[in-house]
Amino acid sequence: MYIGIDIGGTKCAVTGGMFLDGRIEIVHKKKIETPKDRPPEEVIEILADEVMKWSEEKTSVGISCGGPLNSREGIILSPPNLTGWDHVCITSIMEERLKIPAYLQNDANAGALAEWLFGAGKGIKNLIFLTFGTGMGAGLILNGGLYAGAQDLAGEVGHIRLEPFGPAGFGKMGSFEGFCSGGGIALLAEAAAKEREQQGRKTAYWVPGKTITARCVAECAKRGDETATEVFRICGEKLGKALALLIDTLNPEMIILGSIYGRCRELLEPSMRQVLERECLPGALENCRILPAVLGEEIGDYAALATAVYGRKEWNCIT
Ligand code: BGC
Ligand code: NA
Repeated sequence: MYIGIDIGGTKCAVTGGMFLDGRIEIVHKKKIETPKDRPPEEVIEILADEVMKWSEEKTSVGISCGGPLNSREGIILSPPNLTGWDHVCITSIMEERLKIPAYLQNDANAGALAEWLFGAGKGIKNLIFLTFGTGMGAGLILNGGLYAGAQDLAGEVGHIRLEPFGPAGFGKMGSFEGFCSGGGIALLAEAAAKEREQQGRKTAYWVPGKTITARCVAECAKRGDETATEVFRICGEKLGKALALLIDTLNPEMIILGSIYGRCRELLEPSMRQVLERECLPGALENCRILPAVLGEEIGDYAALATAVYGRKEWNCIT
C-alpha cells in the first residue's frame, strides 16, 4: 500500500492507496485540521500515528506540501501557510517513524504527477499542470518525467509579471498569481465593486465591510451578474496570456487546470481562448489540449500518493 500525506495550512489528509487493475484505489483516508498551536515535529507524529493504524504492508510514503521546499533533501523550508515550520527534515523523520522510503514534492509538482499517472495525462510525455486555487503554481512533466529545475523552482509561474499594474501575488502587482488565484479574483472583484459604488451603483456580491470570496463572485457571475462576469472575463484573459507564454516556450501536448478552472470553466474559457488565438504560435496551440483536472476536488490525495509512487520509480508498470 502506498501512503500519501497532503499537508495544507488548514487541513492535512493521510491516504492509503493500492493498485487494482492498473488504477489506484484509495482504501484508507483520514482528514485532520492542521494543529496550528503544535510544533511541526508533533504534527508529523500525529500524521504518522494515523498511518500506523492501518495494518496493510506499506511500500513508500509521499508528502505533498506548498513551497518553498527542497524535494531532493526532503526539507520543508518555510511555507507562508505553515507558521512555525522552518527547515523541517520531514522525509527523514517519516522514514525513521514508518520504516519505509519517504518522498517530498511541492503541491503543484505533485498535482502534475497525479494527473499524469492517474488522471487526464496518462501516457502523455509533455504536460503542464496549473494549481489555480489559493495560489498559482505549475508542475511540469517534460520528456516523460518531472522537471524540477536547478533549485526546485521550475514552475513557479505565479511569480511572472503579466501587467505593470493589477492585484498583487508574491507581493508583486500584476503577477500571474495576482490575477489568477482565489485571492486575486477577490481583489479584482473588490476593485470593480468600489468603482461601481463611486458611480452610485450597487454590486450583487459586495456588502461594504464583508470579505469577498472568489466562490461568491463565481456564483453571482453564474447567475448573470454583469460585474462578476467581467471579473472572470479579465481573469480568463490573463490566464490566456500566461498560457500563451508557456505553450510557446514548452510546446506541451496538454495543459491541465486545477481547482477554480474546474468550477468556473464556462466563465473563463471564452476570453482565455480569444487571447490564446491572438498570442500563441498556431501550430503549438492546435496541438495542445487544455482541460480541467479530472481528479477534481480529490487531487490533493492523489498528488501525495503519486509522489509516493513516483519516488519509487515504479510508475512504468502503470502507464
Ligand atoms: C507557491 C507555489 C505553489 C502554489 C500553489 C504558490 O504561491 O509559490 O509553490 O505551488 O502557490 O499552492
Ligand atoms: Na512547481
